[in-house]
Amino acid sequence: MATEHQRPQFVGVDIAPLYPSEIHPTNVKFRQANVLSGLPFEDETFDFVYMRFMTFAFTINDWERALKEISRVTKKGGYIELMETDFKWYNEGPFKKSSIGDFLRTQKNMDVVTSPLITKLLTKLCSSEINHNERKIAIGEWGGKLGKLYRELYGWGSRNLRKVISDIGVNEKGWDETVETCLNRLNERQAYDMIHRFWIVKPSGNEDE
Ligand SMILES: C[S@@+](CC[C@H](N)C(=O)[O-])C[C@H]1O[C@@H](n2cnc3c(N)ncnc32)[C@H](O)[C@@H]1O
Repeated sequence: MATEHQRPQFVGVDIAPLYPSEIHPTNVKFRQANVLSGLPFEDETFDFVYMRFMTFAFTINDWERALKEISRVTKKGGYIELMETDFKWYNEGPFKKSSIGDFLRTQKNMDVVTSPLITKLLTKLCSSEINHNERKIAIGEWGGKLGKLYRELYGWGSRNLRKVISDIGVNEKGWDETVETCLNRLNERQAYDMIHRFWIVKPSGNEDE
């Protein structure tokens, strides 16, 4: 995005030191920071704030803190955009879905279906219109190049989940096999997820004038 749009200045934020080592557009800076303990920016710094794919990073309560924090650093009249996947597996078929979603909800206060929560929190955060669209995204080769790529991404993310769920005694090798079996079945069943995009304009505070 920074290469395509050279006039704006971009700042990337992550809790981990993840700045890409090979691509360095001159209009991009990176700050290592935790959005939950406060971003290192003044109030109303940015015209546009974008956050995506944080489902496994936040508890339900964290979502509210994170959205308040990104709203704080957004200028009045500026834009906030979010993108998240609901891990729901449409068409998953008769095989039993693992109880990971239930475990995360009950034991860790996390939710893998975030779009209703995000809708609720954005409504609370701002009185302006919430723009929301969703797209079907194939899991597996049945969905062509994009489905194949998504399957790879899904496999990578799921395998990494073993760290989040290690306290339910998941055996790492067993977990990787479960993930692979699951992805094969999802491909056979032509399963898909929904990917959600939300964007709002931060209220200027004088809407009633
Ligand atoms: C699934 S990755 C998504 C990365 C990136 N947004 C993207 O779309 O490519 C989730 C990222 O959130 C970062 N993260 C987790 N908790 C965070 C926090 N409290 N504050 C800032 N970044 C966090 C992780 O280090 C990880 O890089």
